[in-house]
Amino acid sequence: MRLITCENYDEMSKIAAYMVAGQIVLKPNCVLGFATGSTPEGMYAELANMHKSSYLDFAEVKTFNLDEYYPIDRANDQSYYYFMNHHLFSKVNLKPENVNLPNGAAKDAAAECVAYDKKIEDCGGIDLQILGIGNNGHIAFNEPGEELTAGTSMVTLTDDTIKANSRFFASEADVPKHALSSGMATIMKARQIIIMISGKNKNTPLKKLLSGKITCSVPATMLNMHPNVTIIADKDAING
Ligand code: PGA
Repeated sequence: MRLITCENYDEMSKIAAYMVAGQIVLKPNCVLGFATGSTPEGMYAELANMHKSSYLDFAEVKTFNLDEYYPIDRANDQSYYYFMNHHLFSKVNLKPENVNLPNGAAKDAAAECVAYDKKIEDCGGIDLQILGIGNNGHIAFNEPGEELTAGTSMVTLTDDTIKANSRFFASEADVPKHALSSGMATIMKARQIIIMISGKNKNTPLKKLLSGKITCSVPATMLNMHPNVTIIADKDAING
């Protein structure tokens, strides 16, 4: 794993955006894996600026997001589709048919999950996956536990995650209890992974990731088995 140390959140966002832009320039029809949450917001703003000012061209790019709450309609302003549309999709020239998130309104969640992994494979797999990390070490909604799931599946959010995500909702009770989430294998099959880590409260999971030990109780530690991972972390996350 490579570690890029940044002064602050803004620098982390810029470096991640440069790496995504580099991928798009090298392979204009690349497949990108995107994440939601507050960590990548600044990176999406940078990418939108690069599109506007430097003509970074998303015309042939395909995207797959890691997860979506369940059940939720994509028009709901708490959905991850809404988040992505607000921060990126509406600001660049991605084709609507080339953006993908698990469908939080699917009647048959299990079938939706199988179809999602198949669609990623049919597109040739993910070239570059962007990740954040939960305070509890989750990646996507792969929560700490005795076991992890390989493929995309419906997951139950932990109390920690519900609490952390309640800052985006009117109250903790409003946070959905379930999500459709990419599994560990879905993530590990990406050819290149960037994990963005910012803020003092991410010091503990970052240290666990860097320890070289692998445990289901900190799912992000599985990234130690991937051949091409770059951690972009700010000083607050590194120093705690
Ligand atoms: P955050 O979430 O970027 O909002 O901190 C990251 C995550 O839970 O994976």
